[in-house]
Amino acid sequence: MQIELSAILPADNALAVVVGEGLTLSTAAQALETATGGYFTGALKKAGFTGAKGKVQTVSATPDQSYTALVALGAGPLGDLKGQTLESVAGSLWHGLKASGLTSVALDLSGFAAQEVATVRFALTLAAYRFDKYFGQAKLDKLPALKTITLVTADVAAAEAAYQPLKAVAEGIILARNLVSEPPNVLYPESYAEIIKGYETLGLKVEVLGEAEMKALGMNALLGVGQGSRKESKLVVMQWNGAGDAQPVAFVGKGVTFDTGGISIKPAEGMEDMKWDMGGSAAVVGAMVALAGRKAKVNAVGIVGLVENMPDGNAQRPGDVVKAMSGTTIEVINTDAEGRLVLADALWYCQDRFKPQFMIDLATLTGAMIISLGMDYAGVFSNNDDLADRLADASKSVSENTWRMPLPAQYEKQIDSKIADIRNIGGRPAGSITAGLFLQRFVNEVPWAHIDIAPTAWTNEQRLTTVPEGGTGFGVRTLNALVEAYYEA
Ligand code: BES
Ligand code: MN
Ligand code: ZN
Repeated sequence: MQIELSAILPADNALAVVVGEGLTLSTAAQALETATGGYFTGALKKAGFTGAKGKVQTVSATPDQSYTALVALGAGPLGDLKGQTLESVAGSLWHGLKASGLTSVALDLSGFAAQEVATVRFALTLAAYRFDKYFGQAKLDKLPALKTITLVTADVAAAEAAYQPLKAVAEGIILARNLVSEPPNVLYPESYAEIIKGYETLGLKVEVLGEAEMKALGMNALLGVGQGSRKESKLVVMQWNGAGDAQPVAFVGKGVTFDTGGISIKPAEGMEDMKWDMGGSAAVVGAMVALAGRKAKVNAVGIVGLVENMPDGNAQRPGDVVKAMSGTTIEVINTDAEGRLVLADALWYCQDRFKPQFMIDLATLTGAMIISLGMDYAGVFSNNDDLADRLADASKSVSENTWRMPLPAQYEKQIDSKIADIRNIGGRPAGSITAGLFLQRFVNEVPWAHIDIAPTAWTNEQRLTTVPEGGTGFGVRTLNALVEAYYEA
């Protein structure tokens, strides 16, 4: 969908205006009410429209008007119409009109500040997202007719300028959604690394390590996971330098491009979902693209471990012992607990090479996280209260729900091994926590947080107007907001 800015109201178009709770009229709605001699609100009343938040009502235009239809965008209390509420209301315009048959609509934002116009544009961009690249013509023909939304604002240049940083964030989110949605025969470690390489044009520095390089570094935990795959495992290191020689912040992502479980193979039912087992890495890539795109004044490192977890004659076996880059030996009891093996080496490599201010990893790590928190919250685990608090603030500010979980030392014994330093599963109780404790073994003094996004990387139902079904891009906004609020020079 096309979103345009214009200083004048286009004719031969549907005209949308914001209407608050109790039919309180925005500047544009007031103008329309005057122009129609009271017809507009009369028609809304007849339709039972009250201005409730997120409700969209179309009424026909009178014959003397140049509009094809009049649309009221219900906003709830107009005084609350900012930030996340404004995003939600703006997103509802798309959902309210996508089945209307209208091909274009102009939303009159007279009286809204440039920043608010930018917020509306951002929200509509995210709301109208869909992954349709594999649709044939018959399916493309059935897509919503709505192709253009024109936002009408007096100062187009100011609205355009205010949108620039948000545009970068939207690009990062959409990239993450696309990556998560790609089928696993298309997106595998090498093809994924190539896509990331393509973002060097934004000024990102991208290095790709192959299996030989990782072997030389001793990354046997990561390599063991990809051992049964025909696809070569990759570690991709992205760097954004926007703050001279300042100590970097670092993000690390689980990028299992398909998780069969390996020899500890998963049941067939629903296994296709494991194409999005690279959601953590997608959030990291998306966040790096957002930071570079808006030229953030920060030094940031993004590291993603890209592997495919397959059963094979050469695959890792339950019972194998691998020595991670840190020197820690791991007894692999279950080859399906592979994400932590990938992150063990990626985290260690990250702190060893970059000495970051903090490290945050994101991973679709455990099904148990969904059991703990349901589908609406990601779990946060951290060794540092300040970092955890900042992360909570950041996620809240962008409507990405997170909830902090504990890392109790007394559960460490669940991941003790009889023949190695640790084992890779801790049994059924507290499955997400023992996964977090496992990761913590590969973190030194660095402030660190782990976000288990198994619940939120993908959604089968729309929960926010700005997040349609499918890949959510969860994490991109939180990481960007965290940097913006606390770490930019
Ligand atoms: N990728 C899965 C976790 C997952 C499950 C993510 C469902 C999203 C939705 C992970 O690699 C995994 O298989 N974890 C196991 C761990 C167990 C073997 C200790 C799990 O959750 O069952
Ligand atoms: Mn697994
Ligand atoms: Zn996995």
